[in-house]
Amino acid sequence: MESLYETTVERYRKYVMPTYAPKILFTRGRGARLWDADGREYLDFAAGISVCNLGHCNERVTRAIQHQAETLVHVSNLYLNEVMPRLAEKLISNCFDGVVFFCNSGAEANEGMIKFARKHGNATGRNEIISMDNSFHGRTLATLAATGRAKYRKGFEPDVPGFKQVPFNDFSALEAAVSDRTCAVLLEPVQGEGGILPADPGYLKKVRALCDAKGILLLFDEVQCGMGRIGTRFAWQSFGVEPDAFSMAKAIANGLPMGGFIVRRRYADVLTVGMHASTFGGTPLVSAAALAVQEAFDQDGVLENCREQGEYLRRRLAEISSPYSFVKGVRGMGLMIGVVLDREAATLAGILLKHNLVVLTAGECVLRLLPPLIISRADADEALEKIAAGMAELDRLIKEGK
Ligand SMILES: Cc1ncc(COP(=O)(O)O)c(C=O)c1O
Repeated sequence: MESLYETTVERYRKYVMPTYAPKILFTRGRGARLWDADGREYLDFAAGISVCNLGHCNERVTRAIQHQAETLVHVSNLYLNEVMPRLAEKLISNCFDGVVFFCNSGAEANEGMIKFARKHGNATGRNEIISMDNSFHGRTLATLAATGRAKYRKGFEPDVPGFKQVPFNDFSALEAAVSDRTCAVLLEPVQGEGGILPADPGYLKKVRALCDAKGILLLFDEVQCGMGRIGTRFAWQSFGVEPDAFSMAKAIANGLPMGGFIVRRRYADVLTVGMHASTFGGTPLVSAAALAVQEAFDQDGVLENCREQGEYLRRRLAEISSPYSFVKGVRGMGLMIGVVLDREAATLAGILLKHNLVVLTAGECVLRLLPPLIISRADADEALEKIAAGMAELDRLIKEGK
């Protein structure tokens, strides 16, 4: 008889479009732990790519979903539901004053934010957006055009016009690229897919001043680095630089699909009735889960824990990796951590998986750690032990010339 794993792989191969190549079948999760179909337990330092920031099956979120699923799941945005405006109020109460648009994913959030910027800019004949090399903004056609890695666009030409990229953290390059056609600058405060690269705070302040001087919108993509990931609810709060608009997704509803973007109050009327829409955006079910996430930030010490464990992990990672010349550095903020290697990070990630530690890679050479923000010190120590063992194993392989 075939195992559940074998049957699932067979079905996947036969009926699912092969845009991913998954190898493990997880069947259960709780907190920072996952279990596969054979009952093997894993420590999850990926959190569904920074989605399950409160851990798997967080009690607060589960209760909110259960209650809302029995009350009202969906009515469309042609009608009011009482949950979504409460979520919007909650988000804004912790942000600068503004308004929110809700959708379902990160790409969609950025797409909406790009439409917002073009609509605003076109009023004065400006519609070009400058984004950053090595950035990642999503897989829709406009967000691909904004993404600073050509390999994602290959084969999907023609590119959506109106975008150009400059090197990240290079103010002179940005200044030189700005023209009288520029309507917005778009960047990730901490680049995620590009390799866990934080913006230099001084750079962001200069970018803000440049945008103010030229009447250009400053847009932040906080899809990966927002929602507590770097130790503040919104990523911009860690830098003390306020954007004119920023996008969110991934962790907003701890695993239910939601995205959105917030714009400053002065831009609240740029997109009005009929200009932008989403069937599922801000549905009561997802909004209830997202409200529970915000309550956890308020009441469960999540952000404080993220900062504390993040600092500890980054310090200890630097210590345990110091004997190995293949480790070039440890970087990141909060619990968005990159271990920079001098070679492809996939080999080390594979070794760690054998040690039951789920991790990610970013760029080609960065081991990316995105644990749930609720990890304990014991979880951090367990992960460090596995990473130390993994690095020793990689070192052996390198010495053996494998
Ligand atoms: C910074 C950033 N923006 C946008 C996206 C796209 O989000 P989604 O996959 O939800 O469309 C991602 C996904 O990894 C991301 O990291």
